[in-house]
Amino acid sequence: MLSNSVLQRLASWCPWLLRDEPKLKQPVKVLVTGAAGQIGYAIVSMIARGLMLGPDQPVVLHMLDIPRMADALNGVRMELVDAALPLLRGVVVTTDEAEAFQGVNFAVLIGGWPRKEGMERKDLIAKNVAIYKSQASALQQHAAPNCKVLVVANPANTNALMLKEFAPAVPARNITCLTRLDHNRALGQIAEKLGVHVGDVRNAVVWGNHSSTQFPDASHATARTEHGEKPVRELVADEKWLREEFVGTVQQRGAAVIKARKQSSSLSAASAACDHMRDWILGTPKGMWVSMGVYSDGSYGVPEGIFYSFPVTCEKGEWSIVQGLQVDDFARSKMELSANELDEERSMAYEFVST
Ligand SMILES: NC(=O)c1ccc[n+]([C@@H]2O[C@H](COP(=O)([O-])OP(=O)(O)OC[C@H]3O[C@@H](n4cnc5c(N)ncnc54)[C@H](O)[C@@H]3O)[C@@H](O)[C@H]2O)c1
Repeated sequence: MLSNSVLQRLASWCPWLLRDEPKLKQPVKVLVTGAAGQIGYAIVSMIARGLMLGPDQPVVLHMLDIPRMADALNGVRMELVDAALPLLRGVVVTTDEAEAFQGVNFAVLIGGWPRKEGMERKDLIAKNVAIYKSQASALQQHAAPNCKVLVVANPANTNALMLKEFAPAVPARNITCLTRLDHNRALGQIAEKLGVHVGDVRNAVVWGNHSSTQFPDASHATARTEHGEKPVRELVADEKWLREEFVGTVQQRGAAVIKARKQSSSLSAASAACDHMRDWILGTPKGMWVSMGVYSDGSYGVPEGIFYSFPVTCEKGEWSIVQGLQVDDFARSKMELSANELDEERSMAYEFVST
């Protein structure tokens, strides 16, 4: 029998030996911009609970918002203290970009100019180009080498492009944008249609822009049934539903949530951002792919020079576009439509950059 004092000493040196807790890694710094906003508020506790980087990964949270939101940001910090989260090893609250990006290993960029009623897409792009140009230089100058970035703020694909443009020293592979919410919505719709658990559905694809031109594609998805893994196409057996209702519902889901809640999606967006980073950093399960907005390398005939949502697998912190999926004429026309929209957004963005 070990004496109490020996047990106490053991517990302080290596608590996981006595309490079945995982051995903890060195803390990493995670930046959340727009941290006083809706998604920011939902995501910070998820990150500090290990839902993004794992239950063995302590984090120091850096939270950035604009000066007008400084009090609200401080309120979020107070709540994080009150939540007594064991993985949370520090909080930096700031309205200064240089301080926010200092030494960060991961950056989740949620802060941006919101789309207000009557606002043209062009105006939204103009406002956000300025923000992402400025944050790109903070990223390049102050973040840790190999910092991995997820852009959530809309227009997400084009904001990611501006980061790449104005942070040329950051590898393009380290910049991604969020289409995982759309991917998860697609899985959710298929699961409801088939009456199966969402965890039994996999390999849907969201192609293109995080906008209403995105193409949610169920043609490669499968679902686990009591008769084994089956193609969703075969199980649904309703091509009209797959091409029309399914596509339209996923494309318009954000608007439907706003109509119902009078506020935009935040819980599901925060959860999707955690899924995106977790799969990127810790890897996708074998046989499963996810959708991520990444810099196009020309795969599937998508033009280079835009951030486009592709099916990807991830291993050891690197993503690769899944190759060789069949794309029929229907899918091709939808994919082109979204690529054309991104091309237009890019032209608008460069117009504002040069003015
Ligand atoms: N990609 C996706 O799937 C997805 C899903 C949902 C929402 N979004 C987008 O995410 C963004 C955030 O949504 P929300 O509901 O949290 O909005 P929100 O308005 O509640 O929060 C945005 C926050 O960003 C802050 N902000 C503005 N400019 C900033 C700057 N320059 N630096 C730092 N912070 C800044 C605001 O002060 C605010 O606190 C929006 O652009 C929204 O359209 C994307």
